[in-house]
Amino acid sequence: MTTTPLRHLAIIMDGNGRWAKQQGLGRTKGHEKGAEVIRQITTHCANHCDIQSITFYAFSTENWKRPKAEVAFLMKLLERYLRSELPRYQEHGIRFQAIGDLSSFSTALQEQIAKTQEATQHNTALTQVIALNYGGRQEITSAVNQLIAQGRSTLTPEDISHALQTPYSDIDLLIRTSGEERISNFLLWQLSYAEFYFSPTLWPDFTPKELEEIINNFKQRNRRFGGL
Ligand code: FPP
Repeated sequence: MTTTPLRHLAIIMDGNGRWAKQQGLGRTKGHEKGAEVIRQITTHCANHCDIQSITFYAFSTENWKRPKAEVAFLMKLLERYLRSELPRYQEHGIRFQAIGDLSSFSTALQEQIAKTQEATQHNTALTQVIALNYGGRQEITSAVNQLIAQGRSTLTPEDISHALQTPYSDIDLLIRTSGEERISNFLLWQLSYAEFYFSPTLWPDFTPKELEEIINNFKQRNRRFGGL
């Protein structure tokens, strides 16, 4: 039996491009459908799961290498998503937070992110964290640099944990879709004791039903955290 509840779920949403290709569509249609699935999973969890936070990997520090048009589309999609989601966040008590280096984004997107964070900051049903221009190594390096700038020389793991952008909790369960089995520089520090689940489903086909099955699987696992 699991020794801890599922408090923090992390998801690497992979397979949008392959899904679109299978349907004979352009890659951007896969991202559009992927955004709808983020909405469905978040709303489902706010209402039916006993989870405090879900962190979605939407854009990594390496994703800038994609064709310019695809990057531009993803930025617009995000802006549109946040604008259209606000009423739903309020209706279902969802708090929105972004992590990652947001300084490379357009002023309009940065403003939309700040506005959504502020408007939803007192919601308590679920925190939806979206990782944008995020890299786990960059997050750890920036936390350490911040502590050095404060004059610290010897650091403990707790010091680093508290200086991260995601200090509130470790990840209990990581799901990656599309059959790939990699972490891809996601939440490296916070995944130290996470359980991993790799699903063959392409992200646009992922459903609340499959999530529930994965959560049930997680509940059967014996988490020992290094103990016996
Ligand atoms: C991987 O699919 C997915 C991404 C690069 C980003 C995920 C983005 C979304 C779900 C939509 C935008 C997000 C928001 C918050 C509106 P891939 O393109 O790498 O798929 P492939 O490996 O099949 O090519």
